[in-house]
Amino acid sequence: MAKLWAGRFEKPTNALLDDFQSSIPFDQRMLECDITGSIAHATMLAEQGVLTQADGERIVAGLMEILREYQAGTLVVDMGAEDVHMFVEALLTERIGEAGKRLHTGRSRNDQVALDVRMYARGACIHVQELLQKLLSLLLELGEKYATTIMAGYTHLQKAQPITLGFHMMAYFQMFKRDVVRFEHAYEEADVMPLGSGALAGTTYPLNRERVAELLHFSAVTDNALDGVSDRDFLLSFLSAASVCMMHLSRFCEELILWSTTEFGTAVMDDGFSTGSSIMPQKKNPDACELTRGKTGRVYGDLMALLTVMKGLPLAYNKDMQEDKEAFFDAYDTLCKCLPTFTEMLRTTEFRTEKLYESAGLGFTNATDLADYLVGKGVPFRDAHHVSGSLVGKCVHENRALCDLSLEELRAAHPAFEEDIYEAISLESCVNRRRLIGGPAPEAVLASVKRGNEWLAKHSGEQEA
Ligand code: ARG
Repeated sequence: MAKLWAGRFEKPTNALLDDFQSSIPFDQRMLECDITGSIAHATMLAEQGVLTQADGERIVAGLMEILREYQAGTLVVDMGAEDVHMFVEALLTERIGEAGKRLHTGRSRNDQVALDVRMYARGACIHVQELLQKLLSLLLELGEKYATTIMAGYTHLQKAQPITLGFHMMAYFQMFKRDVVRFEHAYEEADVMPLGSGALAGTTYPLNRERVAELLHFSAVTDNALDGVSDRDFLLSFLSAASVCMMHLSRFCEELILWSTTEFGTAVMDDGFSTGSSIMPQKKNPDACELTRGKTGRVYGDLMALLTVMKGLPLAYNKDMQEDKEAFFDAYDTLCKCLPTFTEMLRTTEFRTEKLYESAGLGFTNATDLADYLVGKGVPFRDAHHVSGSLVGKCVHENRALCDLSLEELRAAHPAFEEDIYEAISLESCVNRRRLIGGPAPEAVLASVKRGNEWLAKHSGEQEA
């Protein structure tokens, strides 16, 4: 395919450079955005009298035909084209002749590519939010289902205090909820229309930028042409939202991997989401979790790649910026694979509620409550903490639990202990009494599930509106 910019050159480009600089292998996925953007541009040019009505119509019809063929899967994309923008324009001109050569009036590939990427990014933000919403609604189901399921909570991966599995699930709900908000922000950043920036300095044609924004459903137009073509902050916002989201998935995966070990034995992954070993017949490996944890690294890499590409660039457009797409698409594709796989894996995972309960009773998870009991009897917290610690020390030596100590043994440590201590340090009362807002008690978890459902209904609603 002859170069559309070949006018000032005496020699063709070297084949090495052709191959090196071509972006069509990865930017052809923006073809629908490119055509939709060009249709809006041509429509506006005709409305403004920059193009004749007849040329405008020919261009729009020609672009629609290419779009239909692409959607039907019959369009053959020319891999020899420099990029998707050149491919579409050259094909259009091949088909409709002279009028096709007028499409690029008042436009540069610099503002054209900025437009296409913004349009693609908006779609990506919406799609990721939809995937997150499915995970969030599963977490709400699990929060409710396991609101009363007692388990051990950890700090430093050491047993800390009893909580509920529903409470644990709702912690992840909060994390992925914030991810939705981050993708909403990334959407808002992308939702600004850059066409009319030209190569860097706008254009002399009487373009109606607001009209193009309206045709393409953008909320605003960019305010500075130089920034319009050199800004990729919206992709960085997408990539940083993607990185945080992957970090959240990765933490969850790490826990599920741990819980699936023989040592924990509190989660059993469905066979459909587990893999075996080629040598060890007994193995059932949590590959979905491990791969998600592993892929977090590549998404961080994508963010770091684009941050580094952008850091030394003088205004305005530089070809370095063509590197934005592979990083962005890779992170997007990774999320598109990880989120549904993770959601279904979690949905089918079985939690061993008896094992969770049994495990919560080990490791003195009620030691804080024993101290709190003494505080209730008027003992200062620091003294109560010390007494509880000394009883834990005694139990460690004798391999017993706090609830196994007799009232005499307890009273030897502090005279304030009475018969009601046993009820006060039962796992049920440790959990049930933590019923403040945000606590692990079943009623607090159910209240949190209720708030979560309201939030999700509102946010899924906004998505559709
Ligand atoms: N393929 C290019 C990119 O992805 C399109 C913009 C090229 N502009 C230019 N002046 N060479 O960034």
